[in-house]
Amino acid sequence: MTAPVLLSQIRGHGPLPKHIAIIMDGNGRWARERMLPRPMGHRQGMKAVREVVEGAIEAGVEVLSLFAFSQENWQRPATEIGALMSLLEEYIQREADELEAQGVRVQMLGDLDRLAPQARAAVDRVMAQTAKNSTLVLNLFISYGSRAEIVRAARRIAEEVAAGTLRPNQVDEAAISSRLFTAGGPDPDLLIRTSGERRISNFLLWQLAYTELHISPVLWPDFTRANLCEAILDYQTRDRRFGRVSV
Ligand code: FPP
Repeated sequence: MTAPVLLSQIRGHGPLPKHIAIIMDGNGRWARERMLPRPMGHRQGMKAVREVVEGAIEAGVEVLSLFAFSQENWQRPATEIGALMSLLEEYIQREADELEAQGVRVQMLGDLDRLAPQARAAVDRVMAQTAKNSTLVLNLFISYGSRAEIVRAARRIAEEVAAGTLRPNQVDEAAISSRLFTAGGPDPDLLIRTSGERRISNFLLWQLAYTELHISPVLWPDFTRANLCEAILDYQTRDRRFGRVSV
């Protein structure tokens, strides 16, 4: 079915996920199937990013979180890391004005200090340029690992307790949430992973506690707004109980 038809189905079908997170997987396999170098898969994957941003806006999603580069990805060959960093800069250069016009607020989350100075400058620029927008929050996770994020929060809490600015009995779930990169935002309602893999891969471990999972067989570069709509329709069939019983 086409995206407009699916979009109209979503409207009558149930509550929308406010926040969708995506593990964009399968770029390498997409390239291999075509006997292309892996960076070509990432380049095609960048087009799918544009597609889901537009689809998310059309559907009325408020927050879209995309896992673009994990801490573990730093262990890939230098040529692939270089290609991914160049793509990030290219994405920002090409899309910043369009994102701004669409009302998208871009947030880059992760250990940004590890980025090369040029990539870091581009990241800072697009975040500043779009900071006042509110149609869609686009969280791009770069150099991100969820365990490291939780360790960082724990260390901050320990420092505050040691300094006497936080009491041990004030350390609760809210105290941890507010020290994560995602502080202040809603937890994801729906996590999509593409390429048929069924893992969380160190993405948003704390924030995904009650998130619904949708595994798509589609390789990320082929993922379209129609696939996004299918995932939302699947989400709308779920009975979310958050550990309680149905009413
Ligand atoms: C996983 O596929 C994907 C990545 C490690 C990178 C994701 C990057 C993009 C979608 C493009 C760049 C995006 C922006 C916003 C600039 P994989 O390489 O692990 O695929 P495989 O499992 O098939 O090998």
